[in-house]
Amino acid sequence: MSARVNMHHIAKRAKVSLGTVSHVINGSAAVREPLRQRVLEAINSLGYQPSQLARGLRRDYTNMIGMIIPDITNPFFPALVRAAEDVAYSHLYRLVLCNSDNDPQKEGFYMSELQSYLPAGLLVIPAAGSGLREQPVRNGRPTPMVCIDRKPEGWKGDMVRADNEGGAYAATQHLIDHGHRRIATIAGPQHLTNAQERLSGFRCALKEAGVRLPPEYVVHGQFDRKSGLEAALRLLRPPSRPTAIFAGNDLMAMGALLAVRELGLRCPEDVSIVGFDNLEVSELLQPSLTSVQQPVYRLGSTATELLVQRITGLNDASREITLETELIRRNSVIRNSAATQTQGRKQRVPASQ
Ligand code: RIB
Repeated sequence: MSARVNMHHIAKRAKVSLGTVSHVINGSAAVREPLRQRVLEAINSLGYQPSQLARGLRRDYTNMIGMIIPDITNPFFPALVRAAEDVAYSHLYRLVLCNSDNDPQKEGFYMSELQSYLPAGLLVIPAAGSGLREQPVRNGRPTPMVCIDRKPEGWKGDMVRADNEGGAYAATQHLIDHGHRRIATIAGPQHLTNAQERLSGFRCALKEAGVRLPPEYVVHGQFDRKSGLEAALRLLRPPSRPTAIFAGNDLMAMGALLAVRELGLRCPEDVSIVGFDNLEVSELLQPSLTSVQQPVYRLGSTATELLVQRITGLNDASREITLETELIRRNSVIRNSAATQTQGRKQRVPASQ
């Protein structure tokens, strides 16, 4: 069996020094173009495959960025991951993705597993109840890490998120401006900071407008469609049925739309609904969903740019970057005065009750 091709073979074939080969492969110093071409031709003809692992061992980190997210099947996350990969790629880093399933234990497992592969840095969208508190340390040196979208309790490192509170405030204000006074919310999981911030924006808009919020108008879901459906079925029971619902994300808003149908009601005529995230599919729903747009791609790209700066030596105090949201007005909200309430109309009893 022939010996594994290494840098010595390339140096010999290209008739250059070992140092020149190393500079071309590692980009560690400028090499004159004719020499660089000779090295590249030698690499090609010998079929040399550089080992990132060997390079990583020499530097104590590889060109890999580890990314842990809750769940790639949730349609909110793909654009964010795509942005992270685009930025990582443009800076010659490679992205490795792990799903925590929103389970802090699985998140912890992936954290230490990724660390053992000597990553250049880490991007994390923390799980609900995440145990992350500070930058992880490997061999006495902190591994650069940026949290995105949700802030773990006590986290003091870099953080990039959307203006959850402002977005929720604008969504609620929109309902108030449309004459609604019986406004309920399906808030996200209580232990997630983004869910807390959205609930706080909702409360604040109602308070400022002097709109009463009965305690039963605040129910919690799990940021998924099923819990949105269950929560809305509870909220929409007469006699205190709200005329509008602000859902903490679009998946729960979709669940609320299903509940409206299951109860024989109509959106927006009987119940107006606003979501949060502005998923691509939300425009295609019937009716199209009014929703707060998060700058999803920019969340990923901003966080990854910041991480790359940290990897390459940016050393100032940790940063917390908040990106603006925008209310996208569609057809799921109607003026309350024009709403044809289903008074007297018989409601269907849902199968699940
Ligand atoms: O649907 C996923 C939700 O959880 C989004 O609202 C996003 O902010 C994430 O944290």
